[in-house]
Amino acid sequence: MEQNRFISSVKSLTDIEIEKGLRPTIMSEYIGQEKIKRNLGIYIKAAKNRKEALDHVLLYGPPGLGKTTLSHIVAKELGSQIKVTSGPVIEHAADLAAILTNLSRNDVLFIDEIHRLNKTIEEILYPAMEDFSLDFIVGKGPSAKSMRLKIQPFTLIGATTKAGMLTNPLRDRFGVICRLELYKEDELQEIIERSARILNTKITKDASLEIAKRSRGTPRVANRILKRVRDFAEVYGRGDIDLNLANEALSMLEIDKQGLDSTDRRILLNIIKNFDGGPVGLDTLAAITGEDAGTIEDVYEPYLLQLGFIARSPRGRIALKNAYEHLNLTLSKQKSKEIETYEKNEAD
Ligand SMILES: Nc1ncnc2c1ncn2[C@@H]1O[C@H](COP(=O)(O)OP(=O)(O)O)[C@@H](O)[C@H]1O
Ligand SMILES: [Mg+2]
Repeated sequence: MEQNRFISSVKSLTDIEIEKGLRPTIMSEYIGQEKIKRNLGIYIKAAKNRKEALDHVLLYGPPGLGKTTLSHIVAKELGSQIKVTSGPVIEHAADLAAILTNLSRNDVLFIDEIHRLNKTIEEILYPAMEDFSLDFIVGKGPSAKSMRLKIQPFTLIGATTKAGMLTNPLRDRFGVICRLELYKEDELQEIIERSARILNTKITKDASLEIAKRSRGTPRVANRILKRVRDFAEVYGRGDIDLNLANEALSMLEIDKQGLDSTDRRILLNIIKNFDGGPVGLDTLAAITGEDAGTIEDVYEPYLLQLGFIARSPRGRIALKNAYEHLNLTLSKQKSKEIETYEKNEAD
């Protein structure tokens, strides 16, 4: 179900096609995330000068913000090969050992969804990351010996939407930890204009800005909306995208002025109407909205938090004033006070 939803920033099959052409391949095409780019740029240069492997890098943040893209760019800037795998596909210790022993000097190993790595497999990574070696037990019983096998120095780039789910020993072994932020409007606009050029579509400034505003801070969503609006322009217009056309297409797609879709609105309405504005626990919210808890947490909440529509309190999610305003709902004096008290306590 999630796969088909338009706004979801989780990848679908058509995305993979779109992304192939639109994905930046060099750092200068990678828009935004300035601090991360600056820092990585320095570390890459230093590592190359020393002819050493770059420190292990952990990239975390919501889906669609450019973690995979950035990993490929880093490998390219290092002049290294990249091997790509992901936490859930590594089923056996031997799979990971094989990958690690096949790496060439200073290669990049990209492990997507690294928080889903099996814990016993994870332990193989510790000596590999720390000392570039693999520990083996050879033989059985009293004659068993532990052996150490050297591997080539390499850089592990781990990507995750849930840094909190990483074990401490794994997290501690990353020298560089980067948290990707939701993108600003002007950055998304730049991404949309770049994509439009690649797709050979004319788009006006006000139209690209409008799409940017409704892309929930996420490049993957921005590109997906652009693609749909372009379809719309080809069918109903002459193929060019102006503000009018963008607005019409967006309302057909049921994406509102702030970029919320029907699921976002359902989440907010549930907190407000069924739980009197909260607090309501994530699992309860998931059950009542019929969404997966992980999807709410990874895909929907980051943007609602950023807009100041909801807050996470120790007792659960609560709706804030902005949400009531956006949905045109009146806020009782009592509730309004409660929210103010909460916000004040937060600020202290
Ligand atoms: N900084 C960026 N500049 C331009 N396009 C970007 C940027 N980050 C992501 N994108 C676009 O968004 C798509 C999704 O990015 P991806 O790296 O797959 O996200 P993640 O791995 O974090 O889920 C990419 O294919 C690319 O087209
Ligand atoms: Mg990815």
